[in-house]
Amino acid sequence: AQNKRDSLYILLNFAKESFQELLWESEEGKSIGLSYFKERGFTDESIKDFELGYTLSEWDHLLKAATAKGYRQELLEEAGLIVVKEEGKVYDRFRNRVIFPIHNVSGKVVAFGARMLGKDKKQPKYINSPETELYNKSRILYGLFQAKQDIRKEDNVYLVEGYTDVISMHQTGIKNVVSSSGTALTEEQIKLLKRYTENVTVIFDGDAAGIKASIRGIDMLLEGGLNVRAVALPEGEDPDSYAKQLGTSAFSHYIESESQDIIRFKTKLFLADAKDDPVKKAGLIKDIVRSITKIDDPVKRTVYLKECSDLLGISEAVLVAEQNKILIQQN
Ligand code: GTP
Ligand code: MN
Ligand code: MN
Ligand code: MN
Ligand code: MN
Repeated sequence: AQNKRDSLYILLNFAKESFQELLWESEEGKSIGLSYFKERGFTDESIKDFELGYTLSEWDHLLKAATAKGYRQELLEEAGLIVVKEEGKVYDRFRNRVIFPIHNVSGKVVAFGARMLGKDKKQPKYINSPETELYNKSRILYGLFQAKQDIRKEDNVYLVEGYTDVISMHQTGIKNVVSSSGTALTEEQIKLLKRYTENVTVIFDGDAAGIKASIRGIDMLLEGGLNVRAVALPEGEDPDSYAKQLGTSAFSHYIESESQDIIRFKTKLFLADAKDDPVKKAGLIKDIVRSITKIDDPVKRTVYLKECSDLLGISEAVLVAEQNKILIQQN
C-alpha cells in the first residue's frame, strides 16, 4: 500500500540522516569514517552531495535509535536495515562501514551500499540493502539523481562501475555520470537512461579480462537504440583512482580523446587476440556482425559494416551476407 511505502521512505530518510550525523559528529565516525573519505580525497562538498554516512561498530545502534523514535521492528526489517535471525536475534545490517545512500531519480533514499574499512578478507568489500518494496536494483542507477540535469545538458552519460567512480568524477567536474554498481546493465536501466539522453560513454576499468567479460552486455545498449562510445583506462586503474592521479583537466582530456565508437572499440580489442588464428577470427567476425545487427537503423548498420570491413580486412559483401543471415534467423 502507498501508506507502507511512505513509511519506508520516512524510515530510510531517518536512517540516512542518522548515518550522516554519526559521520560528521560522533567521535568514532569522525576518526574512522570521515578520515577514510578524506584520505580518499573526497571533499566535504562531495560527501554532502552524495549524503555519505557512517555506521558504528555497535550491533544495534540504529535498531535502538529507530525504536526509540517509534519505528516498529517489522518496518526496519522490511526496509532492509536490520537482520532477524531464526533464533530471534536482531541486529543492524550495516555496522562499522562507510555508507553510500542509493537514491531514486527523485532523490529519495531507497537503499544503502556500505563499504568495509579495514582489509578483513573474510568480509565482502561492499554490502548492499536487499531488494525491498522500494528498492529493485535492476531499476536503479547509482548517481542518476545527482547527474540527471547534467546528462540532459551534455546530452551524454558516462557509465562507470562503482560508487566511488561516480563521486570522484562528479568531484572532478564531470557530473553526467552513473553506475550500475558492479552488475550487468538491465533493460530497465537502459530505458531509464533514455529518458535523459541517447548517448552513452562506457568507461571500462583497466583490466583486460574485465573489459572482455563486460563488453558483452554492451549489445543491450545498442539494442536499446543508444549511441555507444567506450574508453578503457590504463591497467589497474578505475575512474576514481585515475581521476585522482591525473587531476581534473588531464583526466577530462584523456576521457574525451580516448573514447571511441563501441563497435570500433570492440573490433580492435578482439582483433589483437584473433589476428593469427583463423578460427578465432571467424568467431570475431560473427560476433561483431551480431553486435551491428542489434542496431535498428539500417543506415548506421551500413556505415558500421563498411568500417569493420576495413578494420578486419574482410570484404563488405561477406559481412553483409553474414548480417542478412542473422536478420533472417531473427525475423
Ligand atoms: P573501492 O575499492 O572502494 O575503490 O570501490 P570500487 O567501486 O572501485 O570497487 P570495485 O571496482 O571492486 O567494484 C565496483 C562496484 O561493484 C562497487 O562500487 C560496488 O557497487 C560493487 N561491488 C564491489 N565489491 C562488491 C561486493 O563485495 N559485494 C557487492 N554486493 N558489491 C560489490
Ligand atoms: Mn557538487
Ligand atoms: Mn573493478
Ligand atoms: Mn573499481
Ligand atoms: Mn576503486
